[in-house]
Amino acid sequence: MEHHRLNKTLLEEEETPQEAVANPDYEHPNVTLIAAASENDALGKDNGLLWHIREDLQRFKELTCGHAIIMGRKTFESLPKALPNRTNIVITRNNDYQATGIVCCSSLEEALDLAKDDPQPFIIGGGQIYQQAMPFAHTLELTRVHDHFEADTFFPTIDPTIWQEVWRETHPKSDNQPLAYTFITYKKIATS
Ligand SMILES: NC(=O)c1ccc[n+]([C@@H]2O[C@H](COP(=O)([O-])OP(=O)(O)OC[C@H]3O[C@@H](n4cnc5c(N)ncnc54)[C@H](OP(=O)(O)O)[C@@H]3O)[C@@H](O)[C@H]2O)c1
Repeated sequence: MEHHRLNKTLLEEEETPQEAVANPDYEHPNVTLIAAASENDALGKDNGLLWHIREDLQRFKELTCGHAIIMGRKTFESLPKALPNRTNIVITRNNDYQATGIVCCSSLEEALDLAKDDPQPFIIGGGQIYQQAMPFAHTLELTRVHDHFEADTFFPTIDPTIWQEVWRETHPKSDNQPLAYTFITYKKIATS
């Protein structure tokens, strides 16, 4: 299938005559989910973002550069183009979907299998993919924007019995940035 050929080219897999096949039992050991959500868990509206926080975009770039970034087809289409210096993996049910600079796949499991050689792949949204990815994630890098927004896409509720906050950095309002926000890292609580 066409998207499998594309996968091979972009991931620079070993040259092999076989098609790439996802291993359904594969579990990546270090998956990070990165998102920015308001106090009411708003993520976006009309397939766009709700705010512009330059430091948040910088942090996103610093954390994700050099890694695989996994996203839903709608989030990909909200971007001007594939994000540079990262392996852009796009999840869609459309087997014919193609765009420059991306690898397509048809499930989150397949996306994580494609990213298995990356020590830290990132799930970058949107709402549908975050919801499905919470069980696969080990770390959440959340930017909490301290305001309420009307939205059509929301981040899942973070269950404190599953996720432990391990780091935060607060950013109050300033002349340049009318929104206060906090970078927060959560780690999944280990279960025995
Ligand atoms: N604030 C943030 O941090 C942040 C980050 C990212 C995105 N966003 C925002 O989130 C919004 C987009 O999120 P969204 O929830 O509407 O869409 P999304 O999660 O980006 O993409 C949804 C699409 O992914 C594909 N998909 C979902 N589950 C699948 C599955 N199990 N198997 C195969 N394909 C699957 C489908 O594509 P097909 O329809 O092609 O089959 C589906 O329509 C936008 O407003 C964007 O700006 C915000």
